[in-house]
Amino acid sequence: MAQKGLFITFEGGEGTGKSTQLKLLADFLAQRNIPVITTKEPGGTEVGQELRRILVTGDKDKMDAVAEALLYYADRRIHMTKKVWPALEEGKWVLSDRFADSTVAYQYYGYNKRVPYQTLENLYKLAVGDFKPDLTILLDINPEIGLARSLAKAGHMAVKETRHESRALEFHNNLRNGYLEMAQKEPERFVVLNADKTIEDLHQEIVKTVTERFKLD
Ligand code: TMP
Repeated sequence: MAQKGLFITFEGGEGTGKSTQLKLLADFLAQRNIPVITTKEPGGTEVGQELRRILVTGDKDKMDAVAEALLYYADRRIHMTKKVWPALEEGKWVLSDRFADSTVAYQYYGYNKRVPYQTLENLYKLAVGDFKPDLTILLDINPEIGLARSLAKAGHMAVKETRHESRALEFHNNLRNGYLEMAQKEPERFVVLNADKTIEDLHQEIVKTVTERFKLD
């Protein structure tokens, strides 16, 4: 693929404010006349929306980590081929609310490594190949604070997307530590920001990161 745009992913546990920050960054970029689209996993495409409903609603034990990994990867493959890569080829910046690091964090670390890491790497190769995000912004927060935020928000939703939120705190602590480990292994791709601050303060940190990294003025 002849990539012309940039692919920026937002990662983190529950209730970090990813979606809000992603929108604010998109507005910032659009104001600078940078062509940008926002998207998410799971659910960035029409088929993905159906997969999302299956994945994030209902009983937490209705499927195991292996089945989840396969479905998240099906969503990802459709997302990349139908939306992300075409947009990048058109020169757009693509901001994605979650990407493959979520699968490692949730299905590998969250579930105490029940899916072999190599299997996830193989799925990545199959679905995504050698392609990687240009930048991954990891929003880090104590899971007790994040879960409280996330469940308060879900209280106002018609369809409760709380399948993962209903898992034990240990699951969320594991995945948070997993994310931090991943960020340490790939410091050139990841930026870790403390998400326990005001929306505006966090936005300013993200703007600073992106402005410096991609030399915007
Ligand atoms: P969201 O709450 O950020 O919209 O994400 C939906 C849920 O799906 C969230 O609980 C994290 C979970 N998830 C995984 O478990 N594995 C994945 O690969 C992805 C993309 C999301």
